Amino acid sequence: MQQSPTIILGIESSCDDTAAAVICDGKILANVVANQDVHKAYGGVVPELASRAHQQNIVPVVDAALKKAGISKKEVRAVAFTNGPGLLGSLLVGSSFAKAFSLALNIPLIEVNHMQGHILVHFITEQDGISHKPTFPFLCLTVSGGHTQLVKISDYFKMEVIGETIDDAAGEAFDKVAKMLKLPYPGGPLVDKYAKLGNPNRFSFTHPKVDGLNFSFSGLKTSVLYFLQKEQKTNPNFIEENLNDICASVQKTIVDILLINVRKALKNENLNQIAIAGGVSANSELRNRLLALQEENYEVFIPKFEYCTDNAAMIAITGYYKYLKGEFSSQEVTPNARMKI
Ligand code: KG4
Ligand code: ZN
Repeated sequence: MQQSPTIILGIESSCDDTAAAVICDGKILANVVANQDVHKAYGGVVPELASRAHQQNIVPVVDAALKKAGISKKEVRAVAFTNGPGLLGSLLVGSSFAKAFSLALNIPLIEVNHMQGHILVHFITEQDGISHKPTFPFLCLTVSGGHTQLVKISDYFKMEVIGETIDDAAGEAFDKVAKMLKLPYPGGPLVDKYAKLGNPNRFSFTHPKVDGLNFSFSGLKTSVLYFLQKEQKTNPNFIEENLNDICASVQKTIVDILLINVRKALKNENLNQIAIAGGVSANSELRNRLLALQEENYEVFIPKFEYCTDNAAMIAITGYYKYLKGEFSSQEVTPNARMKI
């Protein structure tokens, strides 16, 4: 008798995106994300507004994902959800929904670490069967609004952080500089957009002095602030007149800082495969500079744009591998806002 397929429903609600995805035997069937525009006016995510928007979005988003996948609730084998790290109120919405779904359908509940999820997108098989997956061990640079880590991955769930930021995350650096440039939140994609039109060598900013494979971005933020204040004293329109060059120069500095440690880590750990994950992996300069490493015989893995920023496909694929291991959670599980890899 043929075994029925392993269909996993994934739920993501750790920050300001409400997302649901369906994965069948590792293959993506649906990946639906509802963004929350409500935060734009505040220059950052407002936790209370985020949880309320999740409450409004969660049912329609799950419904849309099941419809798009062409399956009924009864065909779902297990429900996976983000249990941390993230905003507690936001996490509670996704975890409560997943618990109720698991209870109502009497199917296993699987908790997922959001950061592991970002990394495991590299193991999603596309609908046409195409997949380009790394082999173990490999290095992953996870760069998002809350994290900047170099992770050595020896197995799906054997992940070792070998370097990380000691202050701001790379995404935070993009967003904070964008705010200084009067760009709306989240500013990362806009800095990327304007940088494409600018000269990355016009302005230079100093690199941080940090030990080993760690990163630091708070000094860059301060030096951009002082630089802008100084220039605006003589030209109040300095930002408007030089926006493209400022964006290109700041972006180049952030990517330079990331790449120095990526190279160091690949050499130290004797690895020849590098993957990126997390929201900042959508950055065009970072993608291009990583791809250039192929000329030095490194194998480079870059996720599709829809898997870079927060999504539920990453939660569903991680849930799938946990399902295969039989790693399930109880109804008593509670979100952990500061969960580590
Ligand atoms: O992974 P993610 O969606 O959420 C977190 O878990 O933090 O990452 C969001 C971050 C934001 O800081 C956003 O500005 C940044 O990713 N980001 C980018 C780009 N697209 C998203 N940063 C630079 N260039 C981009 N194209
Ligand atoms: Zn994320």
